[in-house]
Amino acid sequence: MTALPELLACPTCLSTLRSTADGVRCVRGHEFPIIDGYIDFLAGERPQDADWAQVGLTADSHADEAAGLVHRVENYVVPYIRQSFGSTEGITLLDDGAGYGHAVPLLREHGIDAYGIDPGSRRDKWAEHGLSDRLFSGSGRSLPFADESFDVVFSSGVLEHVGEHLPEGQRGGPCAEYIREVIRVMKPDGRGLIAHPNVMSQDIPDSRVGFVVPADRFMSRVPPRGRPLG
Ligand SMILES: C[S@@+](CC[C@H](N)C(=O)[O-])C[C@H]1O[C@@H](n2cnc3c(N)ncnc32)[C@H](O)[C@@H]1O
Ligand SMILES: [Zn+2]
Repeated sequence: MTALPELLACPTCLSTLRSTADGVRCVRGHEFPIIDGYIDFLAGERPQDADWAQVGLTADSHADEAAGLVHRVENYVVPYIRQSFGSTEGITLLDDGAGYGHAVPLLREHGIDAYGIDPGSRRDKWAEHGLSDRLFSGSGRSLPFADESFDVVFSSGVLEHVGEHLPEGQRGGPCAEYIREVIRVMKPDGRGLIAHPNVMSQDIPDSRVGFVVPADRFMSRVPPRGRPLG
């Protein structure tokens, strides 16, 4: 890796990070290795969330997810950013739960200063992007970025997997941690674009629709920030 991106911060204590011979280290001594070319902010401890969402992954799921993500980015995310900010040029964006990582190079083609993070094993495919200073292993529940780093935090098909391994009534805590972190790393006038299955989705089993209710309840407790979605 070349120079460390300035917006990176220790996910444990939020202090400054420096490169070491085989990873990065914060000024308070928390160390994170580079594994297969990418910084691993989980330091080997994968939260169950990640692997729960990997069940049944195949070569087809790689192609299907890539196609779906490209569609969402081109038809919703990029037009939304243009409409909200007047331009895409230089807009800082985090893809929070980046999966196979396809959104990051695509968004960059639109002039967006995009980064991605994911705790799961879809990272095994990141080598095809070669973006070791843009994609990071880590959890949305403790992001390795400084406060107010991003104009946009984008999350696509992730929230329904956060805390998914926990029994129904216990998912709210991990989801609230994830949302709190979205808000922390967003600039004061930033936008959070969070897409997940909801009552308007097609082909969603009832159990997923049920999950939307507690998510809505905790989101209503999050203080409003920035402009309302237009
Ligand atoms: C269905 S995939 C969606 C991937 C991608 N966003 C897309 O739209 O194709 C769900 C992703 O959420 C990730 N995930 C699970 N728990 C997470 C967490 N706590 N923080 C960030 N990502 C998480 C999984 O590792 C997985 O890559
Ligand atoms: Zn630290």
